[in-house]
Formats: sequence, structure tokens, C-alpha cells
Amino acid sequence: MATRGKKLLDLALLLLFFAGLLGMFLPRWLHEGLGVLLLAGLLLHLVANEAYFRTLRKNLRGASQRVNLANIVLLAGSVLALALSGAALAGWLPLGAGANWRAWHLGASVAALVLLFLHLLRHGRRYIRGRRFAFLAGAGFLLAAVSFFGLPYLDRWYHTVVVDPAALVEGEKAALPGRVLTVYFSRVGNTNFPEDADAVSGASLMRDEAGELIGNAQMIAAMAQSVAGGDQAAILTAVKYPANYGETTRQAKKELERGTPPSWRVFPRVNPATYDIVILVYPLWWGTMPPAVAAFAAEEALTGKTIIPIVTHGGGGAGDSIADLRQQTKARVEEPLTVYSSDIPVARQAIADYLKKIREKM
Ligand SMILES: Cc1cc2nc3c(=O)[nH]c(=O)nc-3n(C[C@H](O)[C@H](O)[C@H](O)COP(=O)(O)O)c2cc1C
Repeated sequence: MATRGKKLLDLALLLLFFAGLLGMFLPRWLHEGLGVLLLAGLLLHLVANEAYFRTLRKNLRGASQRVNLANIVLLAGSVLALALSGAALAGWLPLGAGANWRAWHLGASVAALVLLFLHLLRHGRRYIRGRRFAFLAGAGFLLAAVSFFGLPYLDRWYHTVVVDPAALVEGEKAALPGRVLTVYFSRVGNTNFPEDADAVSGASLMRDEAGELIGNAQMIAAMAQSVAGGDQAAILTAVKYPANYGETTRQAKKELERGTPPSWRVFPRVNPATYDIVILVYPLWWGTMPPAVAAFAAEEALTGKTIIPIVTHGGGGAGDSIADLRQQTKARVEEPLTVYSSDIPVARQAIADYLKKIREKM
């Protein structure tokens, strides 16, 4: 491959890598597409640089050459881990239900970032020299360091999150005018989890100190009820979702495509017609609300009521769910509050502030 072609390929790879790192904020299909392109580009990069591997023996004489090769091997390993965990998350490979592929994927991406930085430090001089190289190397170092030390924030993806629900739920009150019902839909309650279910919250779960699983939307609903008062109920599907996160996403996708919700009920049995306000808490599923939530919102009993939506998500915010909700329901739908899944344990104040604002408008 001509040098110019190689340069363009390397630049494209770099851009693809950073676009992929923003994956948490991109639609899933785009993130997956970028991942496939990156992998194909990396294979091309290896082919384009095959001369290096042909002359490997000669290239391994000095210590610095050996460090360089070790870096390349580790980088290739982390890219492989990235690809395999990504394929497992996307459901393209039957790689077993137990492993926490999200944690693997995130860990591999941080490792790849640091190793890529070292790789660029060694080879980047081919393309950029002098001050610009020093500037870019500094910026790259900063980025790698921020990602590395940002890990504690992403801690939820690595460790089981144990919470004390009673303590988290306590706080400022903002009783809403009228009769209030908080209705939530969560994976917990709609999934037959095994005793030892992986509760690393990349899989959207928490545990209380007694070991009971708690869903994200479930926790938010408890906080919202504590703020606003009134009653609480859960939307439960008759057929449970698979304990495996990836399988749940696939089943959910099929349900959304089919357009028919699974059979569901509200537990405990309440009549929404006897309330004025429904705080509706749900997780974002494929950019919208779960099918059973859409079916609940379409109930005649909600006609003329006010729905206050609180959406928990893995980076997609409220997605299209509010537009879909407004189409689906005969209730008045307020602007939503969105809560990122890692922020659930600290969301109490944001929920109180949000409900106070809504109250002022009422
Ligand atoms: C089937 C399914 C689809 C999802 N789709 C999205 C999505 O499109 N965008 C997003 O940001 N998060 C998505 N997530 C992540 C959830 O919205 C997030 O983990 C949420 O906090 C889970 O709440 P829960 O524990 O109450 O179920 C999805 C999760 C599942 C299970």
C-alpha cells in the first residue's frame, strides 16, 4: 500500500477508535457498526504493515524493539477482547450467559486506549514532527490518564453495587397536588434471576445489604414515591425475560418489532382512574419505552391524567420514548427526568428538584 494510503488508513482508524469510545452516547447500531469497521480497518493495517512482521527477527535486536513488539501484542490482545466481548454483547456469538461482557468490553477499551497511546508515541513521528507531535502526545497522554482515572466513576460496571435502599430513599419531600400513583417497570420483577445473578450494574442491577436484587427503575420509583407521596405499583409481565442481559435485549427487540406487548398486569392491583398524577418510571429499551409500559400508557383509565415520566438509561437519555408516550396515551405528558444508570444511588435530590419544578407549574 502506498504511504499516502497507509496514512489515510491510520487516520481513519484513529477516528473510528475515538468514535467507538463515545459508544455509550451513540445509538447501539452505530456503535456496533463502528466496531466492525474498526476491526476490518485494523486487519488492513496489519496487512499494510506486513513488512514489519516479515523482518521481525531483525526488528527484535534492541530492548526498545522488544518493548514495541510487546506493546503491539498487548494491543492486539485488548482489541481481540474488545471484539469478542462486543460480539457477545451484541448477541452475535453464543459466548455464555454468566460472564459480565460489559465489564470486559469497558476494561478492554481502556487497555486499548492506553496501549494505542504508547503505539502512537512510537510511530506517530512518521506523520507528525516537532511541536505538533509533542502537543498531540501530551493531549493523548491526558486523554489516556483521564480514561484510566475515570474508572472509579465507572466502578458500577465492575463491582456489585450494594445499596441501603432505606437510607437512599430518605430526604426532602415535595408532595404533589392530587392523588399520586408511582408506576414502574424494571428488569427486576420481570426476570427469573438465579440466586447468584450477576449484579454488576452494567447489567442494570443492585443488591441491598441482605442480598436482594433491586432494579434501577425500581429504586427510582421508591425515591419518587418518597418525594411525592401516594401509592406505588409495578408493571409485571406474565412471561418473564431471560436472566441474561443480551438475551433480554434481543427478546425486547423482537417484541418492539412485532408491536404486540407481552401480557402484563399492574401489581398491586390499582385503578389508575382513581389518581390524578401518575409518575411513570421505566428504563429506556432500544431508544423507547418497554412494550408493557407503552401498553400501560395506552389504558383508557389514564385519559385526562398527568404522566410525569422518569427514564433510566445507559446513555441514550429519554430517546424517542417521550414522543412515543405522547402518541400512545390520552394523558398529558410532562417533560421527563432522565437518570443515567450509574447515577441511580445518588439520584434522590435530582428527583426531588425535578418534582418540585413540576409542582410549581401545576
Ligand atoms: C432490553 C434493553 C434495551 C436497552 N436499550 C437501551 C437503549 O436503547 N439505550 C440506553 O441508553 N440504554 C438501554 N438499556 C439500558 C437500560 O435502559 C438501563 O440499564 C436501565 O437503567 C435499566 O433499568 P432497570 O434495571 O430498571 O431495568 C437497555 C436495557 C435493556 C434490558
